[in-house]
Amino acid sequence: MRSHILGTGSYVPKQVLTNVDLEQLVDTSDAWIVERTGIRERRRAAPGEACSDLGVQAAQQALSAAHIQAADLDLIIVATCTGDSPLPSTASLIQYRLGAARAAAFDISAACCGFVYALSVADAFVRSGQYRYVLVIGAEVMTSITDWTDRNTCVIFGDGAGAAVVGPTEEDRGLLSIHLHADGRLSDLICVPGGGSSIPASEFMLAERLQFVKMRGNETFKIAVKTMEGAVREAVAAQDLTVADIDFLVPHQANIRILKAVVERLGLSMDQVIINLDRVGNTSAASIPLALDEAVRAGQIQPGSLIVLAAFGAGLTWASGVIRW
Ligand code: COA
Repeated sequence: MRSHILGTGSYVPKQVLTNVDLEQLVDTSDAWIVERTGIRERRRAAPGEACSDLGVQAAQQALSAAHIQAADLDLIIVATCTGDSPLPSTASLIQYRLGAARAAAFDISAACCGFVYALSVADAFVRSGQYRYVLVIGAEVMTSITDWTDRNTCVIFGDGAGAAVVGPTEEDRGLLSIHLHADGRLSDLICVPGGGSSIPASEFMLAERLQFVKMRGNETFKIAVKTMEGAVREAVAAQDLTVADIDFLVPHQANIRILKAVVERLGLSMDQVIINLDRVGNTSAASIPLALDEAVRAGQIQPGSLIVLAAFGAGLTWASGVIRW
């Protein structure tokens, strides 16, 4: 038995933050941001709009697309690094809001790879027969950990959520394989130093702005290109396929130049890459499911399409997956 994605959904907050808006906050320009990242605008959650609020909206769409009732869910996994609060899990809050009374619920922390990591857990539970229907959500309010005085990071991130209902299939399609990787030696490339047990919330933490995301962008860029290329090659090789068999690449939406470099190294065409970063920026764990849902709803991804997911992010983590849609 295989697992398959039975339905997808997504949600982005209403407020649009353009590059011109950011010109008012930091010393930057629309031209610089577009040229260096490909991002034109991103979404920002309203005050009081939390990770679970975004996740619930995406989840409801995914359940409806999958024709599955919340009451039938066995497990809810939320991939996020910006959950509503450290305790309880955002998955528990969403379980209650959806009325998924039978479902177990937990969060996964694997930054921008979170959705692919969560998908692999869902896949393992479904293939083992322990659970039938697993709801996987990637949801982030990245603007809650964004330092609006730091031009290196504030131009990159945005808020959003994407969701997928994973269930069993007897058909010759579904999740074919997933590969997960991590290298903790590179944990300081992208991090939020404060707010956890090593530097708990304090006046010191606030004064040093340690509650916000820090990133060594240039080093991350180079590693991202290498790991994403390797992850895609590993994914197709595991299925005795080649890069030429890929119909669509659904990558983590970090930077258009990273995607162009990866595509060039792989010998793919940009038409085969699902891209929405120009409109939503980098939404971390929400990035892949958001892009996937948009492509499915637009009819770009069709039954039978061979798609490869590829992600990298803080940790450092990187991951890939192959799906016969
Ligand atoms: N506007 C204007 N100038 C900016 C700027 C901004 N928003 N951000 C940085 N700069 C400046 C830098 O200060 C630097 O100036 P200096 O030469 O005077 O020191 C110059 O631009 C070049 O900085 P650099 O960091 O080398 O630029 P870059 O081409 O690497 O682009 C990123 C910066 C962040 C866009 C790019 O490195 C990137 O996208 N990296 C990957 C990040 C990523 O994917 N993170 C998420 C992982 S999940």
